[in-house]
Amino acid sequence: MLVKKLAADVSAYDGKQVVLQGWVRTNRKGKNIGFLVINDGSCFANAQVVYSAEQDGFDEIAKITLGSAVEVTGTFKATPDGKQPFEIQAEKVEVLGMCDHDYPLQKKRHSFEYMREIPHIRPRANTYYAVFRLRSVLSMAIHTFFQERGFVYVHTPVITGNDAEGAGECFTVTTRSDDHYEKDFFGKHAQLTVSGQLHVEPFALTYRNVYTFGPTFRAENSNTTRHASEFWMIEPELAFADLDDDMDCIEEMMKFCIRYCLEHCPEEFAFFEKMIDHDCVKRIQKVADSHFQRMTYTEAIEHLLKAKDQFENQDIFWGMDLQSEHERYICEKIVDGPVFLIDYPKDIKAFYMRVNDDQKTVAACDLLVPYVGELVGGSQREERYDVLEQRMKDMGMNQDILQWYLDLRRFGGCKHSGFGLGFDRMLMYMSGIQNIRDVEPYPRTPRNLIF
Ligand code: 4AD
Ligand code: MG
Repeated sequence: MLVKKLAADVSAYDGKQVVLQGWVRTNRKGKNIGFLVINDGSCFANAQVVYSAEQDGFDEIAKITLGSAVEVTGTFKATPDGKQPFEIQAEKVEVLGMCDHDYPLQKKRHSFEYMREIPHIRPRANTYYAVFRLRSVLSMAIHTFFQERGFVYVHTPVITGNDAEGAGECFTVTTRSDDHYEKDFFGKHAQLTVSGQLHVEPFALTYRNVYTFGPTFRAENSNTTRHASEFWMIEPELAFADLDDDMDCIEEMMKFCIRYCLEHCPEEFAFFEKMIDHDCVKRIQKVADSHFQRMTYTEAIEHLLKAKDQFENQDIFWGMDLQSEHERYICEKIVDGPVFLIDYPKDIKAFYMRVNDDQKTVAACDLLVPYVGELVGGSQREERYDVLEQRMKDMGMNQDILQWYLDLRRFGGCKHSGFGLGFDRMLMYMSGIQNIRDVEPYPRTPRNLIF
């Protein structure tokens, strides 16, 4: 019987003759007996293959190198209390692809920096093996959450004609290597999307509740542990919803995703607890069980002013953009958990956010969490045509490019809200991994472009 998925149904294999394919994690040979630990890719756990000196080719099996692809035929035994929960008494071990001696992974622990140089090999190391499966499961959690609630999944374009955030941090699309790239998308200017929000809003005004989930690009030259030039974002948009509804949705989604991942990745979380963050499960379980606090930007500034000695060389004043250390101070020292900061000064936020009655602030929310800082950015959208048009003028924006967006306010526009969740940051938050480069399969940052 060929084992297609070791994790699936152990009882079906127990005591039977099986064929298992996988990759060698370790190979230890004693005098009369040898142990080959292999992973078949279906689960975190490995199978221990026992081979003995009495069988043909003992010396050949003993020479199989770490990383080799093999096919093992033998009798299967479930060993739930053993270090490896599966065991195979080998009758035959066939090498399908031998691994050369200059294989970059060795049995020891390698540094994260070293691993970033070998993105084609690093998924095979335990940390990345766990992270990238969690990445897959978290994607499924997101889709499950929204699909179960009737949200429509919309594919917004990667190539776009506008800079949604108005921050001008875009990669231009070009096929040319000279300087004449300005209108290089068949005579038009085009760039990689910084956010799917503007393109998803029309769909919210059709299906009521929608979401995008895809890659996003930012040309900010930030060399931090939480910024990447390419990252994935989930952007839901809810019609007939105000900022409170928006925050309720964020909170519910976060809690659902945490519970879903804890349930579907128990081995991965056991590994994170042991090797990455000893408090990981307790920490995120607490988030799933807690109520997310809400605090205005103005209150946050008051807290920061009281602690201003801690932020050397930095003025703290109403109207400033919060730095990540300020955000972390609020959610680590003042609240000790996730907190929504709301009602930011309008001058530091995007043009599409709804202006509050005080005329100074907008109905925006950022969800701040310990370790990571800003995890989600959301807002109620400005649905009043005149107000939005004036704001675009005040900000010196080119109205022609976004006339279609303004027109939505004339064609059955209504109150609506949405947010963007940084998917890679969510993974960092859940696993305890400290650097965004270690949760992305092929990280793209200003200094890294490997393959
Ligand atoms: O706050 P941002 O810029 O919001 C938007 O793009 C809105 N259009 C979202 C919306 O309302 N539909 O980005 C949203 C989130 C941030 O909170 C952060 O988690 C993540 O995206 N993010 C980044 N993640 C990794 N690297 C970067 N350079 C990021 N920039 C933003
Ligand atoms: Mg933001």
